[in-house]
Amino acid sequence: MNDRFKSPLAGAKVGSGGRNLGEVLNLRGVSRRDFMKFCTLMTATLALPKDMVERVAQTLETARRPPAIYLEFQDCAGCTEAMLRMPHPTVTDVVLDVLSLNYHETIMAPAGQAAEAAREATIEAGDYLLLVEGAISTKDDGLYCTIGGRTAMDLLEESARGAVAVIAVGDCACFGNIPAANPNPTGAVGVSEIVRGVPIVNMAGCPVNAVNLAAMIVYYLTFESLPHLDDLLRPDFAYAERIHDHCPRRPHFDAGQFVESWGDEGHQRGWCLYKMGCKGPQTKHNCPVVEYNEGTSWPIKAGHPCIGCSEPQFWDTMTPFYRRLPEVPGFAVESTVDSIGLALTGITAVAVGAHAVGSILRKREAGETGDRDVAEQEGTTETTEEGGHDAQDRD
Ligand code: SF4
Ligand code: F3S
Repeated sequence: MNDRFKSPLAGAKVGSGGRNLGEVLNLRGVSRRDFMKFCTLMTATLALPKDMVERVAQTLETARRPPAIYLEFQDCAGCTEAMLRMPHPTVTDVVLDVLSLNYHETIMAPAGQAAEAAREATIEAGDYLLLVEGAISTKDDGLYCTIGGRTAMDLLEESARGAVAVIAVGDCACFGNIPAANPNPTGAVGVSEIVRGVPIVNMAGCPVNAVNLAAMIVYYLTFESLPHLDDLLRPDFAYAERIHDHCPRRPHFDAGQFVESWGDEGHQRGWCLYKMGCKGPQTKHNCPVVEYNEGTSWPIKAGHPCIGCSEPQFWDTMTPFYRRLPEVPGFAVESTVDSIGLALTGITAVAVGAHAVGSILRKREAGETGDRDVAEQEGTTETTEEGGHDAQDRD
């Protein structure tokens, strides 16, 4: 492996979570074919060569599942929901099964002291991964977010101390996101403002892309290290390149073909959304390649501008969402957006709780969750523009 990808985790012992993943997937009825499809998706998402698929598969089949604690603080649970509502069960199954998830407030069956006991036992055993969703309140000693009478700050510090790594899931845990938006009444911050001395990975996005999260965990299991991270602690495989550089509407940008108003001819024909406020030129995320909901769609494909949801403080730096990036006289549009971009981006417990997941999957199989088609989503976009513009604009 390239030394560039070595991390402080190299050689770290992956904790044992009882059964290995191959055994768990067998029990869950995940077919070999689906499993290999998953491994292919993971290898592609990690931008690894195709011949790595077999190695990823072998590792996952035999790896002892690392124990994990999943904390939720100031959030909407959207990242958890994004994972549970995947249209195809395999990624959800594997994300939940690849870890020996001992504590996850949203989906675990135990509550109260039993739940806290599961978290404490995992900490005591050591060698676990800590996943965190949601921002951490720091104002007034953190009293605006407490669980079981303890502040999020306190719980995070205690849970992180013995972790082999902390994965911040979604923009709230990475950078504070909506809870931290001006005027940030609770003093909300991301994990990296609190945790010291433990490797941190920021899986940015609002919500996180579950495929990227799964790929991050698969990388860790396969190489027993963390992938290379950027200055914002985001892994290169998902955050090295701009949306704008892989956008299918880019030829229209280059040709000067822009949507001028919602529903106009350009909008219907899939032209560039730059003039409608698209922040793709200053946003780094692999949405055009991986898409969301296992390749169903992503904002720009659905006719909506990128709002920069994988960047820090995007509720403050990327608003108004529907206003085009400012122009700098004397520069071409591309020069302008690049300059601005630089300036702006200045198991036990959960195994029981898997009933909740199973029920979601069963409902999905029964066809109770349907995809909206692109036209419908564009209709929603227009409604949002009209109905939500004032609330989102902060001049
Ligand atoms: Fe795509 Fe937005 Fe760039 Fe246009 S401005 S090409 S819609 S990323
Ligand atoms: Fe977010 Fe922009 Fe992707 S809004 S989901 S980074 S297209």
